[in-house]
Amino acid sequence: MTLQMANRKLPSRTGLPELSDAQFGQWRELLETRMGISLSEQRKPLFVSGLRARMREIGCEDYQAYYQRLRAPHSMPEWAILIDRLTVHETRFFRDPDALDLVERVLLPGFAGPGGRSLQAWSLGCASGEEAYTLAMLLDRALTTGPDTVPRFGITATDISRPALDTARQGEYAQRRLAGIPQEYRQTYCETLSPQRFRISERLRRRICFSPLNLSELERFPLDGFDLIYCQNVLIYFDRGERHGLLDRLAGRLAPGGLLVLAPGDVLSWTHPALERIRCAGTLAYQRRVDPEARD
Ligand SMILES: C[S@@+](CC[C@H](N)C(=O)[O-])C[C@H]1O[C@@H](n2cnc3c(N)ncnc32)[C@H](O)[C@@H]1O
Repeated sequence: MTLQMANRKLPSRTGLPELSDAQFGQWRELLETRMGISLSEQRKPLFVSGLRARMREIGCEDYQAYYQRLRAPHSMPEWAILIDRLTVHETRFFRDPDALDLVERVLLPGFAGPGGRSLQAWSLGCASGEEAYTLAMLLDRALTTGPDTVPRFGITATDISRPALDTARQGEYAQRRLAGIPQEYRQTYCETLSPQRFRISERLRRRICFSPLNLSELERFPLDGFDLIYCQNVLIYFDRGERHGLLDRLAGRLAPGGLLVLAPGDVLSWTHPALERIRCAGTLAYQRRVDPEARD
């Protein structure tokens, strides 16, 4: 079937025609080659609804015209918006208490007390920032001795979605999101802006560097030696084989003793010679061996 023929199909409820299998195949290839994102057949409905949402926003009614626009040179700004519409940014403060508890018990004691070195963490797939600010609250409370002392941690937070990162950098959220933050943290780290909005304190905002990063282009990311890599609910965008390859590369970015925290179900049966699985109910986490012989 040619694309033109496919476009003559009956319009869907949105006013746009159905996306044919051939067109879907074209988009799959383009996403794979340009963004390193693989799209399985099961994700077609989700992809189509994101694609249509973006096309409606810009008043485009022809899949082929939009496809050509994204194939053209200098199309990165439009790619950034489309990727944002195709990805789910669902997140919340203190989303995974079991994982946070594990970080507190397994990792933080090694950094507490005076004279310890600064802890470096990476929130990977940070969406609108709630995950990174959650980690910042946890680390600041555990590692800093007083409000006047310099926090002894830094957080790098990355995501493929630039609009989500813009929200994250502002650190301002609707008051209803406050409900997820335990009372003892709210008082110290959240400032009321209005009855509808609150903001994360400047002290924490200054500790986090938000940057765009496509996980498929990990080789472009220059940092390593992380004590904590927190990567939850992001690997779902990759197929099983790709997940293992990505995790192998993330393992190489950990400092000795560093912790890799995933969400339960993010990956099955992955192992790495330099990492040890931490067995703790309701969590999926690995620790890099301190042994200097441990190899990537
Ligand atoms: C469901 S949210 C998870 C947010 C947060 N980690 C949490 O668990 O609450 C998934 C995030 O992964 C990001 N993402 C999807 N594909 C990505 C990729 N290839 N590289 C980097 N981030 C990606 C999305 O933009 C989205 O913000």
